[in-house]
Amino acid sequence: MDKLIVEGGYKLSGSVNISGSKNASLPILAAALLTDEPVRISRVPDVSDTNYMLQILSQLGASVERSSGTVRIESPEGISSSASYEQVRKMRASICLLGPMMARMHRCTLPLPGGCVIGDRPVDLHLRAIKALGAKVRVKSGNMVIEAPDGLIGTTVDMRGDNGPTVLGTDNLMMAAVLAKGTTVIESAAREPEVVDLANFLNKMGARIEGAGSRTITIHGVEKLHGCDHTVIPDRIEAGTFMVAAAMVSDGLTINRVCRDHIRTMADLLVECGHTVQFNEDGTSVYVEPGKTPRSGKILTNPYPGYPTDMQAQMTALFAVTPGISVVKDTIFPQRFMHCSELKRMGANIKVDAGTAIITGVEGLSGAPVMASDLRASAALVLAALAAEGTTEIHRLYHIDRGYEMLDEKLLCLGAKVQRVRDLEGGIIEP
Ligand code: EPU
Repeated sequence: MDKLIVEGGYKLSGSVNISGSKNASLPILAAALLTDEPVRISRVPDVSDTNYMLQILSQLGASVERSSGTVRIESPEGISSSASYEQVRKMRASICLLGPMMARMHRCTLPLPGGCVIGDRPVDLHLRAIKALGAKVRVKSGNMVIEAPDGLIGTTVDMRGDNGPTVLGTDNLMMAAVLAKGTTVIESAAREPEVVDLANFLNKMGARIEGAGSRTITIHGVEKLHGCDHTVIPDRIEAGTFMVAAAMVSDGLTINRVCRDHIRTMADLLVECGHTVQFNEDGTSVYVEPGKTPRSGKILTNPYPGYPTDMQAQMTALFAVTPGISVVKDTIFPQRFMHCSELKRMGANIKVDAGTAIITGVEGLSGAPVMASDLRASAALVLAALAAEGTTEIHRLYHIDRGYEMLDEKLLCLGAKVQRVRDLEGGIIEP
């Protein structure tokens, strides 16, 4: 297990390139199972979640080659319809194998994912969707055993849950429906750019999907899909994280390989909070500079195009050192506030109650040993550490390695003083 040692107070400067999106890559890699022809996917970030997904695909019988961010996957006839707990327990997103496995083999056995630190993470909507297409679901020995011996049949499914639409649930239904008989209409579909990227990939494979990016997606089932080449969209959450770093602790940073439309809400909030944000003409690069008189702010997380839950922890780190009182309410994962207690150990003034954090800005944070609890919480701790006085040790760095490609290397190039070292203590401080 590694830890990150950060010496705070060094201003970042220069430019950084954003990697391909982790959350777009995961379902796209799973969708490679939908054809026996080879697919080539470029700009897949080299993070542990994509590596887990590739390991699962190869254990199912697919041949996987990876070089310089490009992955070639070929899933011949006879791939397995069953994944083991050992294979999938490391990553909740393995649930997105359900749709492609059902479409290709009309049956699958997948371990039921458990909860995780950011919330309960149920899969009822995924199961509602696959049942609506005609599959039977039973739970046996911790596994979901799903079968549709007569194949899947298109229908209309409303995917809205109590906390809004589901991203991977929409992905799963789209992937299940591409080879189903007839037409499937997804109502209350997630509109996230990652859903649109998956739909574009599936259409390149020969699927007939209309309306991705809107509330209603229509999928006309086809007989067969074929191989294709695809380049994954930029990671909007990594871009947002560097934008916050720029506003917190830089002389101005240029963040390249972004998509303006995908990060507009995050950019608008930084501007509201008094920081400078300037896009280049085609919106592929953004310059962010800290404002002279930064202001507190308010976040209510919402499904896209609302403010992403995956960015609230990082903004909380910024609010911790912004004068005034800021409020962060997470409506999607109301328990996602584990970072707050660690930020408090660095001197932040935060009260968390009923899915809301109230942050009173302090003059400065001080370095401390802290524990990462999940991917975005770790990003918040890194940002706080960069701005803090003194040295911060961030334990359980594996959380950050799940979703940020070479974060320490990228920060080093921007002038940060960070060092990744082997963590001998990290292994014994389990809860
Ligand atoms: N939900 C249900 N039932 C379901 C599925 C979801 O009630 O069957 C609820 C969830 O509990 C949550 C809400 O619906 O309250 C939205 O969850 P969603 O299903 O959209 O989450 P997800 O698809 O499992 C993806 C991202 C998450 C991101 C969420 C929300 C991937 C691999 N993961 O998860 O990313 O937070 O959408 O935008 O795409 C991260 O990258 O750090 C991360 C956690």
